[in-house]
Amino acid sequence: SIPAVLTINGKDYKTDSWTNITPTIQGLTERSLHLSESHPIGILRSLIEERFNGLGYTFYNDFKPVVSTYENFDSLGFPIDHPGRAKTDTYYVNETTLLRTHTSAHERECFTSCTTPGYFISADVYRKDEIDRTHYPAFHQMEGGRIWSRDEYGDKLESKLLEDIAKIPQTDIIVEDSHPPFEDSNPKQDYMTDRETELVGIHLKKTIELLVNEVFNEAKKSAKLAGSEEPYLNEPLKVRWSPDYFPWTSPSWEIEVWWKGEWLECCGCGVVREQVLTNSGIKNTIGWAFGIGLDRVAMLLFGIPDIRLFWTLDERFHKQFHNGKISTFKPYSKYPGTIRDIAFWVPSVEEKVHINDLMEIVRNEAGDLIESVKLVDEFTHPKTGRNSQCYRINYQSMDRNLTNEEVNLLQDSIRDTVRAQFNVELR
Ligand code: PHE
Repeated sequence: SIPAVLTINGKDYKTDSWTNITPTIQGLTERSLHLSESHPIGILRSLIEERFNGLGYTFYNDFKPVVSTYENFDSLGFPIDHPGRAKTDTYYVNETTLLRTHTSAHERECFTSCTTPGYFISADVYRKDEIDRTHYPAFHQMEGGRIWSRDEYGDKLESKLLEDIAKIPQTDIIVEDSHPPFEDSNPKQDYMTDRETELVGIHLKKTIELLVNEVFNEAKKSAKLAGSEEPYLNEPLKVRWSPDYFPWTSPSWEIEVWWKGEWLECCGCGVVREQVLTNSGIKNTIGWAFGIGLDRVAMLLFGIPDIRLFWTLDERFHKQFHNGKISTFKPYSKYPGTIRDIAFWVPSVEEKVHINDLMEIVRNEAGDLIESVKLVDEFTHPKTGRNSQCYRINYQSMDRNLTNEEVNLLQDSIRDTVRAQFNVELR
């Protein structure tokens, strides 16, 4: 059922045995929600860009989602057996081309061609994932990068770094654990001095603290406007840093933000590995990169309860949001959900159906009428060794009531496709 040629953003690509992009996913690549000035994702993007305007960054917003496997993985040092490369996790156009799984796929070209010291990239990214209120196969990231050339600054590099750090606007943010110890897997790079690593790290962290402070202060303002009187809305924002791991940065960190009584993972970052810069044709240069997911932050900011709403074409959603304004989403209706189970036997545990592959079928048959899919039961028959899996599908529309008849039809076509595609016996 896979066409010989796939057209994405006006370009033709030959398909092969790696191709796993469905028409549903193909449709999402044409939406560019982050470019819409009156869409929550676009409003959030502009808000951040405005904060960093004049601080030495170029803003790239037009990169198309199809990139090479090299750009997305190899140029960043992903090992060949990294699970992110699997067909169950990534949408492949063909063996050498895919839908980017993160904006870091553009680091190389940005470091090469950017004429300011730093850049921001905003774009849609794609991952085969489970379906629920906060996960969708397409979402949005904003990536930042910044470099300093040793050749350009010579023995003034340290004072240049200190000067650039001093230029970052101060915040009243409370930082816990701001210098966690390095771990063996996350060390300082040999080509950098201790002092360079320290100062690039401080510039990176202060930059991200400025970004999250800006965004979450806006979230507080909008919560207050919506009538909330929670005490935390009047306290400074609290964040913490912990060590993290990415193949293309070292050391690497993650920032978490204290929000409504829990730590929210917000943004991964680190000191760029020398290899990425030399791959970009840049020598004797040091720098940092970070990546932040926009969808979950926009859900907080705008009070949006379900990530699918970003993709709806319903006017009742879109007319609520306006250029440059954070407002709280008013649900226009709540339609009840309908639950259906699908259960089947697979011949052995080894032949289990991967949840992401099932998700893909469900999503393709029923699109945004799926609220969630969950594995609710699994067991192996003690005598036959056969394995049973049962998945629960919750059908629910954001925009209207679903009829029983329509849900039955969808469930039947999902059953047919599962039967045709996997070696299973439906129960
Ligand atoms: N690309 C990473 C992600 O998707 C985030 C990141 C960007 C980490 C840049 C380090 C540097 O999680």
